[in-house]
Amino acid sequence: MEITITKTKSPKNPPADSDLSFGNLFTDHMFLMDYDPKVGWHNARIEPYSAFHIDPSTMVLHYGQSIFEGLKAYQSDESDILLFRPQENFRRLNRSARRLCIPEIDEGFALSALRQLIEIEKAWVPKAPGTSLYIRPAVIATDPYLGVKASETYRFFIILSPVGAYYKNGFKPLKIWVSKDRVRAVRGGIGEAKTAGNYAASLFESTFAAEQGCDQVLWLDGIEHKYVQEVGSMNIFFVIDGELVTPALDGSILPGITRDSLLKHAKSNGMNAVERAISIEEVVEKAKSGQLQEAFGTGTAAIISPVGQLQYKDKEVVIGDGDVGFLTTKLYDELLKMQYGRVEDAHNWVVPAVSTALL
Ligand code: COI
Repeated sequence: MEITITKTKSPKNPPADSDLSFGNLFTDHMFLMDYDPKVGWHNARIEPYSAFHIDPSTMVLHYGQSIFEGLKAYQSDESDILLFRPQENFRRLNRSARRLCIPEIDEGFALSALRQLIEIEKAWVPKAPGTSLYIRPAVIATDPYLGVKASETYRFFIILSPVGAYYKNGFKPLKIWVSKDRVRAVRGGIGEAKTAGNYAASLFESTFAAEQGCDQVLWLDGIEHKYVQEVGSMNIFFVIDGELVTPALDGSILPGITRDSLLKHAKSNGMNAVERAISIEEVVEKAKSGQLQEAFGTGTAAIISPVGQLQYKDKEVVIGDGDVGFLTTKLYDELLKMQYGRVEDAHNWVVPAVSTALL
């Protein structure tokens, strides 16, 4: 499919890298295409970034039929712009699409459209350490209709946002609130899809956690309120007796690409890395006995976020010495080096962001 390109007549100046935070600034252009059952995905275009004109009855506004992805473009020391496993993001977008009755996109085409967009916006890729260009592909249901059913029409779009750290305190241990009453997702629900509703479901408890002086919520399973699922909008890892442990994907947990990368990286570097059910009681006991040495969250936006303390019922559970752990720091450094192209890419995860050649 041909991509029509219309450039802005009033380009903005990209911000100074030192002014960047997360998700509040957008580049000059965006990619769009529309879906209609008669013609499929069509009208692929890159246009100046602007507001959508939508009807108040548009289905996504009422029933949340919406999916998205998050990935980043990184500026390497050699001035190349790199993407980290972008094919995985478009593959996951299609898995979310199937779960939400949204028509799938052509993954290869979406990646080449993203590359054309980044080519136009390359001046917006920040260079300072820890900064990147956050990429947000999304699909929304666009039928103007109030009956509950899958929409017939959709819009796919990609917007770009230069970002610094996700958490304003940077790489500091988080204090985590363990949610015992409210849940994010249940097996068989939509927890493993990257869809708006999962994030809406997290807001009440996150606000409550903040009122208790905590930074994020640790979610437990929706049936027994016993097994650890995710932390905030990240996957969770524990270091127990030197072994890296993360909850097994059970249908209610987002299959994070950073999660998968860390598991593979750790295993290929000779570490024991396991996916299994892990109960909150085990976490508390092993923290007490000193066997739980470290914990951290992983995600594209936040990368790796150390966890220093859990607040569970009325107990404060300190992890390790409450500070950033050795392995957390090591894995964070190694992941960043891979993403910024500073080490040999043993897994072939890093691809150029501006070449149109499909890999
Ligand atoms: C990401 O890590 O990219 C996410 O999707 C988290 C986001 C909701 C900020």
